[in-house]
Amino acid sequence: MKSNDIRNTFLSFFKERGHSIIPSAPLVPENDSSVLFITAGMQPLVPYLLGQPHPEGKRLVGVQKCVRTQDIDEVGDATHDTFFEMLGNWSLGDYFKEDAIKWSHELLIHTFGLDPARLYITVFEGNDDAPKDSESIEIWKSLGIPENRIYEMSAETNWWSPGENGPCGPDSEMFYDITQDGLGDLSKEEFIQADEEQKVIEVWNDVFMEYEKKDGEVIGKLSQKNVDTGAGLERLVMVLQKKDNIFETDLFSPLMKKLVAEVENQDQYSMRIVADHIRTAAFMIIDGVSPSNSEQGYVLRRIIRRAVRHADTLGLPEDSLGNYIEPLEDIYRSVYP
Ligand code: SER
Repeated sequence: MKSNDIRNTFLSFFKERGHSIIPSAPLVPENDSSVLFITAGMQPLVPYLLGQPHPEGKRLVGVQKCVRTQDIDEVGDATHDTFFEMLGNWSLGDYFKEDAIKWSHELLIHTFGLDPARLYITVFEGNDDAPKDSESIEIWKSLGIPENRIYEMSAETNWWSPGENGPCGPDSEMFYDITQDGLGDLSKEEFIQADEEQKVIEVWNDVFMEYEKKDGEVIGKLSQKNVDTGAGLERLVMVLQKKDNIFETDLFSPLMKKLVAEVENQDQYSMRIVADHIRTAAFMIIDGVSPSNSEQGYVLRRIIRRAVRHADTLGLPEDSLGNYIEPLEDIYRSVYP
């Protein structure tokens, strides 16, 4: 499946289940000065998760452009990137855990054809803020996931919030085994190790947003129970296209092929950084950011400088990074005209 088909299949799956398709908001938040860039699919939806009625109804689906730079030093490994697209479906006080989990499973296993024997699940183990998510465990078991492949995890990994304030809640994450021979049954410790070694890849996160945070503390329940799901497109494409890393998927491969053909030094790490940073810089510029000394413009300037530094390492001629915009346009033209 091409990445364009994967994006469209996600949207139509949820449209058939009563969701309205909403367009991506721009990368620079429109009504929220607490963050420089949209870092999660749900961010533009915060007012609606808090209870304001959304003009498109209670079931939404979309693909949101995101920028996350906190892991910039990880770019170059199998899965990290600074720009990504987040596939998401949302329930604003409508369906809850049962439908959210059932549909995640149906789309991954039955529509996309992933192997259920390679799926691992995490759920929230409970703490003073909220009890263990036994309901999700039972739903996963009813879908045929063996109990020993469902791991109870702490709030550090399985409580999701966009920041210190706003809607939040326990989450259940789906991981996929990408090793050649398959890892089979794993103890919790072995699963955590496999995640660190990128042998299992997180492909989807279902957040059950029924709580609210204020100044970093969970202060209680919201007036409605929401679902916020997120599947990073690049990782999902990597898994569905059976690649070892996101840079070999069709979201990156035209850029990587051009780099391989033009560099003097075939340093994988630097090539991946250049490909990633060109893509991120281009999407920032499309959404109105210019290089500057402050805020979004400073992040863009840093990204471009870092791309130039690695282009130098690769021995690319000066002023040649602009030549990579055309292959980038070819990848995204039909999605973001
Ligand atoms: N907000 C959650 C995340 O970004 C689910 O979309 O992982």
